Amino acid sequence: LPREQPYRTAYHFQPPKNWMNDPNGPMFYKGVYHLFYQYNPYAAVWGNISWGHSISYDLVNWVHLEPAINPSEPFDINGCWSGSTTFLSGEKPAILYTGADPKKRQVQNLAVPKNATDPLLIEWVKSPHNPLLTPIDDIDPDNFRDPTTAWQGPDKVWRVIIGSKIKGRGMAILYQSKDFVNWTRSNKPLHSSTKTGMWECPDFYPVSVNSKNGVETSAQDIFTKHVLKASFKDCDHYILGNYTLKTENFLADTDFMDTGFDLRYDYGKFYASKTFYDSAKKRRILWGWVTESDSESDDIRKGWSGIQSIPRSIVLSRTGQQLVQWPIKEIEELRTNKVSFDSKELKGGSIFEVSGITASQADVEVSFDLPNLNEAESVDPSWVDPQLLCSQKEASVKGTLGPFGLLVLASKDLSEQTAVFFRIFKRNDNYAVLMCSDQSRSSLGDGLHKTTYGAFVSMDPSDRKISLRSLIDHSVVESFDGEGRTCITARVYPKLAIDKEAYLYVFNNGTLSVRISKLSAWSMKRAQIFPIKKRRKPQ
Ligand code: FRU
Repeated sequence: LPREQPYRTAYHFQPPKNWMNDPNGPMFYKGVYHLFYQYNPYAAVWGNISWGHSISYDLVNWVHLEPAINPSEPFDINGCWSGSTTFLSGEKPAILYTGADPKKRQVQNLAVPKNATDPLLIEWVKSPHNPLLTPIDDIDPDNFRDPTTAWQGPDKVWRVIIGSKIKGRGMAILYQSKDFVNWTRSNKPLHSSTKTGMWECPDFYPVSVNSKNGVETSAQDIFTKHVLKASFKDCDHYILGNYTLKTENFLADTDFMDTGFDLRYDYGKFYASKTFYDSAKKRRILWGWVTESDSESDDIRKGWSGIQSIPRSIVLSRTGQQLVQWPIKEIEELRTNKVSFDSKELKGGSIFEVSGITASQADVEVSFDLPNLNEAESVDPSWVDPQLLCSQKEASVKGTLGPFGLLVLASKDLSEQTAVFFRIFKRNDNYAVLMCSDQSRSSLGDGLHKTTYGAFVSMDPSDRKISLRSLIDHSVVESFDGEGRTCITARVYPKLAIDKEAYLYVFNNGTLSVRISKLSAWSMKRAQIFPIKKRRKPQ
């Protein structure tokens, strides 16, 4: 019999039911990972927004707690919207979040733990000084939200940015404070752009240029670059640059939406993300909201909407020109039933099944050697938009070197399939590697968005190889090129390729052969997710 909930995930984070959007205030505190999230306690659609709260010891298995903050006061009566946590002196965590006031104006509020010795941080108290920041002067009350984790300079002054849009410019307004309660607006924004629209959920943090370790948000190190991320146009965009605390100057290397250099965390479904510094493992971890691509009535029928990505560790690439991301190591604890093989030629036009795993709940890594790289077809100089290219040249369109890759969540007859693949072209003296996630045949169902995604991967041509990893979990496929330079997340809702009826294939629809140097695939165990534990009142 078909399962009633074929699209619920087994190892991606989800609340037991209802609506979830942005990850909020992730942190590691007294041995416990905390994730808060935008949550509607009453329905599978956006509204009544509270801060859902869950805890974990390993970022894989979770315990759901009661929401940490709920709309209750004039300064947040219409919703407790996104925000972040900051460790104040004495390592005491504090939440800065956006409240929607009785007139639906956006204001910024502070909340602190009722009992900071409780590692679970169950109860939070809203500051009597709220709202700390209101939309005065030229600030639009509809476009003033999502405070970041604050950072503190050697001068002991705290800095925070808030997402905004003023006179058509998306921007991060900068504030400073000595006591975390009284904040002064800086005379210029940290950064702004005319090309973006409103900046939702900004994030601003240092990354090391000479180590794979993460850097604490307030660290002042000359061996760092800063990342500025903003969420707009359904995507999380970032730029890199140099930040000088003294002058509050952020000198960006590139611009948002630069043609040919439009850096995004993920080129599929991934929005309103947030990073935190994990002091336990000295790394920076990224969480992102992965939206549904079914309809609102589907969500109401399912009783839920929204999942979180697998947390990803995030570092600067060796070239210093982009970030690289990789699913946290801990997720590998769920791997089981490994199947693997080495060195297999994948002739042009061939396909074969990877059997022996639960293909609806799997982790797959495959590396391809490219002996025929020199024979790749040349790229047409007019081909600049990778997403457009992937939708024109979808998986069934034959090429020379590619398309080759995986068919995931496929039905036995292949009438349903999500194709994650590469196409390689010659470009001048170099190569252009296109990575695509083609959802066009992901489901026989209708009323679904089946948008195809694509991006270029900056491959080192001397490598003559490229690899792919896909995390498959019933209705989500999170794919990474093997170096973590390009990530594409997709949501799909197969009708046939459900549970045991889902299959996994490797395919090559180019004319040239490629060689699989190694393929490893695992079934993934279900993460343990425990519901809210109601505390008994003392007798
Ligand atoms: C981003 C966002 C934020 C806002 C929150 C409200 O998805 O729109 O800007 O704070 O969601 O739930």
